[in-house]
Order: sequence, then C-alpha cells, then structure tokens
Amino acid sequence: MYNFDKIVDRRGTNAFKYKRLDKFFGRSDLMPMWVADMELESPDFVVEALKKRLEHPIFGYTADPDEYRPSIVKWEKDRHGWDIEEDWIAYIPGIVKGIGMALRALVKPGEKVVIQPPVYHPFRLVPQACGINVEYNPLIECEDGSLKMDLEGLRKLLSQDKAIKLLILCNPHNPAGIVWDAETLKDLASICKEAGVTVISDEIHCDMALFGHKHIPFASVSQEAAQISITFAAPSKTFNVAGIVSSHAIVPDKELRERFFGWMESCELSDPDIFAPITTIACFSEKGEAWRKEMVSYLEGNILAAEEFCRERLPEIKPLRPQASFLIWLDCRALELSQKDLVKLFIDEAGLALNNGEDFGPGGSGHMRFNIGCPRSLMIKALEKLEEAVARCCRR
Ligand SMILES: Cc1ncc(COP(=O)(O)O)c(C=O)c1O
Repeated sequence: MYNFDKIVDRRGTNAFKYKRLDKFFGRSDLMPMWVADMELESPDFVVEALKKRLEHPIFGYTADPDEYRPSIVKWEKDRHGWDIEEDWIAYIPGIVKGIGMALRALVKPGEKVVIQPPVYHPFRLVPQACGINVEYNPLIECEDGSLKMDLEGLRKLLSQDKAIKLLILCNPHNPAGIVWDAETLKDLASICKEAGVTVISDEIHCDMALFGHKHIPFASVSQEAAQISITFAAPSKTFNVAGIVSSHAIVPDKELRERFFGWMESCELSDPDIFAPITTIACFSEKGEAWRKEMVSYLEGNILAAEEFCRERLPEIKPLRPQASFLIWLDCRALELSQKDLVKLFIDEAGLALNNGEDFGPGGSGHMRFNIGCPRSLMIKALEKLEEAVARCCRR
C-alpha cells in the first residue's frame, strides 16, 4: 500500500509548476494546479534503480540497456494488447520534442498539419514554431457535455485541402480526458490513409485509463492505422518522472520508420542519456504495474471527491469526468464571465494557478483545466478557495 495522501514539499527542487508561477501568472503565491505532473512521490523502486547506477562513478557515453526495448514491448502487450517489435522503438527526448522532430523529418515546406481542438496547446505551438500552418477540425460538444470527433468534418477538410499531410492525435485526449473508442480510431485511420495523411498519436496519458475505460493504441486498430502512424508514449505522466525525460516512439511501418528514425539518428537525438532507460525499465515492471493500479484508483477517488464538491458546493462549475489521467476539464460557463474575468477569478480571487481553457484553442473558452494529481487534501483546499471566491464575487 502506497500513501498517496502524503504531502511532499517540492521547494528547493526547481519544480517548474512552482518556479514559473511568476512568469506565467504574474504571482508566485498561487496553489499550482496547472503543469501536468503530480504532487505524488515517484515510486520508491524507481529511486532505488537510479541510486544503484549512481554508485558507479563513471558517467561516460552509455548505450541503452538490453532490457530497455523488451520492457516496452512487454508493457504494450500486457497493458494494451498491442504486439510490437523491438525494432519499431526509438528513444525520444520528450514527446513535445518528438513532435517537433517528426515535423522536421516529415513535413515539407508548404505542407500543413491538422489538430482537433480543444487540445494540448503544443500541438499548435510546435508546428507554428516550425513555420507550418495548422488547420483545425474542432471536436463536437454533445448534449451531455462530452466531446466527440467530427469525422465528417475531417473527411471534408482533407478532401478540400490537399496541403494537409499530418494529423496530431491526442489519445487519450488532453484536456478533456477522452479515451477514444476503436470505431472512432478505425474511421480516423481510414480517412487519413485515403488522404495520404500521417498520424502522430500522442499516447502519453495511456496508462491512466479510469473507471473501467480501456486505452486503445491508435496503431493497433487496423492495418491502415499501423501503416500511417507514429506513436509516442512514456512512463513520465503515470509514474511522475517527467523530469527524467524518458519517452519513446513506436513506428510499425518500415518506410516511415526509416524516414523518421534515420533523421533522428543522424543528429543522435535517439540516443538516451544514462538515467532515462533505467527509469523506463523500473516503471514498466511488475512493481510498476502494482504501483500504477493503486495510483489510478487514488485518482478515481480524487475525481469522485471533486465531482461531489462541485455538485454540493460549487454548482456553477461542472467537471467533465475524465476517462483517463489526472486533468479535469472544468466547464465554468454558468458563471457567465468573460474569459479574462474567469482567469482573474481563479488567479486573483481564489489564488489558484490552472490552465486557461482558451489556450487549448477553439472550444476552450469558458473552461479551465484542473490538475488533480495530488494528495486529496490539497485538491479539496483548492476547491475551497474557489468556492470562497465564487461566493464572494459571483453570487448575489
Ligand atoms: C498530451 C501531452 N503530450 C505531451 C506532454 C508533454 O510531454 P513531454 O514532457 O514528454 O514533452 C503532455 C504534458 O502535459 C501532454 O499532456
């Protein structure tokens, strides 16, 4: 039994979500419920594996350990029923950087990328920084507040705009926590295959499916999906080891692999540092699976507690129940505030740092993204601060 209620002081560790509060929010005294890492201790067996390597005093150039690729192959098979081969895997130094590298390797001048907002903002920012135009195929909001893909809209967009050559998929979806179903993914694959569009499937949140939902790797849904896709995954979110930067790409198609991996290899970008593979091997283990299960059930408890809190004490705010991961997409539209005033309410009145929904693109307005990957008492404290601010500023 792990104790996820334990509050861990991160001061003095240069934790991004604390250290950059001033830069991104103009104040450093906010409760940080934004950047997507957790306030839960990384597993003890990961710490032990890293300590063991530190006992040897030479940190020279190092090849990845023999167990590295097999541990990923086994994890994908055991966790997600996806059969992959060792040769399909390359280390990448983070998924956002992986997206940037794939764009550099695969997208020619004048070609475009399509994304499905509201979605993780680097999907827009990275292509734009590479001088690549980004088209939107926004998700559709259903009557119950859930979101679905506009597959007909995508088919139309791809048939009209032949410059679109790549789609970035968030599977599971950030910020709305959607676990995409097999049928949606299959249809998406056939639409993209027909249009000659490569799919990057960002599966960083895949090991935290909640409430009985099951993650489906995009590349596993059909032959077509396997032929056109690059999958990115990592232990970083699930095991709270993002600072160690151990991520990987999985590319089943030989030609696509040669283009992408060839480019990375020539720049030595797929050579891991000493600590990254050690971390992945430790996470993708039996102990890792036991820790993961307990952690996921703790997250479910947090989500249920947040839902109850909002239902009883903050009815103006509707949390969309995530099907995966530790981010809750809060629908704040009933407060009837402009986005500017909504952000001000969270920062200046409640003293909270959450991600502004508008940063996730069209469909994000009226929303905030709430990171509940923390001891439950901290999450409740944040909700109490919000309740107090709403009562003071928004209720008559
Ligand atoms: C969907 C998604 N992809 C990628 C990342 C960042 O991954 P990395 O730190 O490996 O670049 C995040 C972090 O929040 C994320 O939510």
